Amino acid sequence: MDTRTAGNFPYPMGRKKSMTFWRGYEKDETMNDKTEQAIGVFDSGIGGLTVVRALMERLPFENIVYFGDTARVPYGVKSVETINRYALQIAEFLLKKDVKLLIVACNTMAAVACQAIRDLSPVPVLEVIGAGAASAVGATQNKIIGVIGTPATINSNAYARAISLLDHDVRIFSQACPLFVPLVEEGWFEHEATRLAALEYLKPVKAEGIDTLVLGCTHYPLIKPLIAEIVGPQVRLIDSAEAMAEEAAGLINARQLGNPSGRSPDYLFCVSDVPYRFQTIGERFLGRTLARVEMVRL
Ligand code: DGL
Repeated sequence: MDTRTAGNFPYPMGRKKSMTFWRGYEKDETMNDKTEQAIGVFDSGIGGLTVVRALMERLPFENIVYFGDTARVPYGVKSVETINRYALQIAEFLLKKDVKLLIVACNTMAAVACQAIRDLSPVPVLEVIGAGAASAVGATQNKIIGVIGTPATINSNAYARAISLLDHDVRIFSQACPLFVPLVEEGWFEHEATRLAALEYLKPVKAEGIDTLVLGCTHYPLIKPLIAEIVGPQVRLIDSAEAMAEEAAGLINARQLGNPSGRSPDYLFCVSDVPYRFQTIGERFLGRTLARVEMVRL
């Protein structure tokens, strides 16, 4: 695709009418047509609902279209090539729904495929890793930070790079936790098997004297109470969902993209495999009925 880059956000040639500057952000005039369009949020499964929950609270008038790739989860143990391909398929699906903003609510896709998604997207793309890294650097006192994530996220070093860019004095200890995503997708938030896995994964990170632990996978906040109990009250847990919602609100505000309708928002949840489990676990987590859950084929 022929694109020109405006800041971090590429625009396909021909779509852009004019650019103005508003509170330091570049604003695409065509964006104003989009104010009632939904925010597109995606993840490999139910993990991105942690970001959806924060968005619902922070931006209560915004429509949201969510995609969870329940047929192909987990992504974090797959190759970079496969994760890239899946991520681009999902981004294309959401762009066809004419979303006004894309939020990569999956650390694994953000770590591996963020640039490719940005290259494809005519609308702004936000991702969770930058938001999580900034929160962690803001929270640490002793400058020793732990990061847990999927094998793909940890192997990409994306968190270590993002944190070091913000503060190169910080020491970072990373741990891949491949069993967490399947356990969370199963809904085993407090199950003994999840506790045993967590004890095993968290022991070495805790031993490094961290005072801050980044939950570098959007599935992990669903087992936050268990993780908190194991690492103890002296370790601050960073969940990028709230920081992500804050960043989305900032961008929407700066680009005058806020939905002015004042109507109660539409929430559409799309999944790539049977929706029942997603619906049950999603409703339990979001504390509300998911009225529209659709199975789609990419
Ligand atoms: N929620 C995804 C993340 O943040 C989980 C990845 C997976 O499917 O393994 O990385």
